[in-house]
Amino acid sequence: MKLIRVKTRGGPGVLTYQEEPRPDCAPDRILLKVIAAGINFADIMQHQGTYPLQLPLPYTPGMEFVGIVEEIGANVTTDVRLGERVAVLSWEAGGYAEYTVIRPEQVLRIPDLLDAHTVLALLFQGISAYLLLDYAAKIRAGESVLIHAAAGGVGNLLVQLAKLMNAGDVFGTAGTGAKREMIRNWGVDYPIDYTEPNWHEKILGITGRKGIDIILDPIGGSAIAQNLSCLAVEGRFVSYGWLSGDCPSLTATQCQNLLFRNQSVSGFAISAVMNHHPDIVETALTQLFTWVQMDKLKPILGHAFPLEDAAQAHAAILGRKTIGKVILQVGRYPA
Ligand SMILES: NC(=O)c1ccc[n+]([C@@H]2O[C@H](COP(=O)([O-])OP(=O)(O)OC[C@H]3O[C@@H](n4cnc5c(N)ncnc54)[C@H](OP(=O)(O)O)[C@@H]3O)[C@@H](O)[C@H]2O)c1
Repeated sequence: MKLIRVKTRGGPGVLTYQEEPRPDCAPDRILLKVIAAGINFADIMQHQGTYPLQLPLPYTPGMEFVGIVEEIGANVTTDVRLGERVAVLSWEAGGYAEYTVIRPEQVLRIPDLLDAHTVLALLFQGISAYLLLDYAAKIRAGESVLIHAAAGGVGNLLVQLAKLMNAGDVFGTAGTGAKREMIRNWGVDYPIDYTEPNWHEKILGITGRKGIDIILDPIGGSAIAQNLSCLAVEGRFVSYGWLSGDCPSLTATQCQNLLFRNQSVSGFAISAVMNHHPDIVETALTQLFTWVQMDKLKPILGHAFPLEDAAQAHAAILGRKTIGKVILQVGRYPA
């Protein structure tokens, strides 16, 4: 079978497309024939060596995938049927391969009518977007939201979900004029060019100096100062990634300001919610599937690359050339 292997840490060039024997299905495992795998920014950080939870080398990337149940181990007790199409979320990865072996508890049942690419858009990125608004920021009707990297995989869903959860004005940042036009079409009321030096002043102007109620930040680094400068009284700033390469750090004065303005700064990791509140994750995914089936939510499926072009796909994300969900098409089966 064909698969991607990572044998050393580094840039996208470390993703090697190669041939290996198909894995055996152990008695307590399920063997899946993979249809497609979703790409997440965490997959890139993993081979760069910047992800906090490092997979031991060598490994096959791919933390989310959709596949067909090919074999069920003799000791597995499950309702899942041979030939059933299922999804998997796995910290052990393994989705960038034609076949992969999973633990039975990793299986997620998926609606028959949703294509594999849409399902993949709703997994790590969809669940994270839902929980960022509902669980981490606890959004209330009418509150304004600032969504950074709004054209991305998490970003496009945050824009749509903010509207579905009755947000007030939605602000979104994107790095090019074309992306800002796109996010406006998806529902962003005020697209912001974060490459302008004083973008926070523009937001303060639009909001009549009030600022934003909820800021969702996957960028980190020095932008924290501008973010906090346009956070409203009682505002919530949620850090959920470090696209800039650096975690945000707060000065004593910024902490004092939080106190006098009743603001909060918090973090969010989907892994912690999966570990401590699996029921909350299940509810989020069910709601996402329902909204998509009702046509209320339309994940942006930006790009699909063949498995052999995994390195190019990662390079495109790093080069900020992508929008929405980026997929690796693995098998040649109907999605
Ligand atoms: N904490 C969690 O549980 C959790 C869950 C899911 C994702 N995340 C995080 O959410 C962030 C977005 O993930 P994603 O998978 O949806 O990726 P993505 O948004 O699809 O791709 C990255 C986009 O971010 C923007 N960007 C800004 N600064 C960048 C930089 N220095 N390098 C590259 N891109 C940069 C680019 O858009 P512009 O051209 O508009 O700048 C780029 O297109 C990542 O930090 C990821 O780790 C966290």
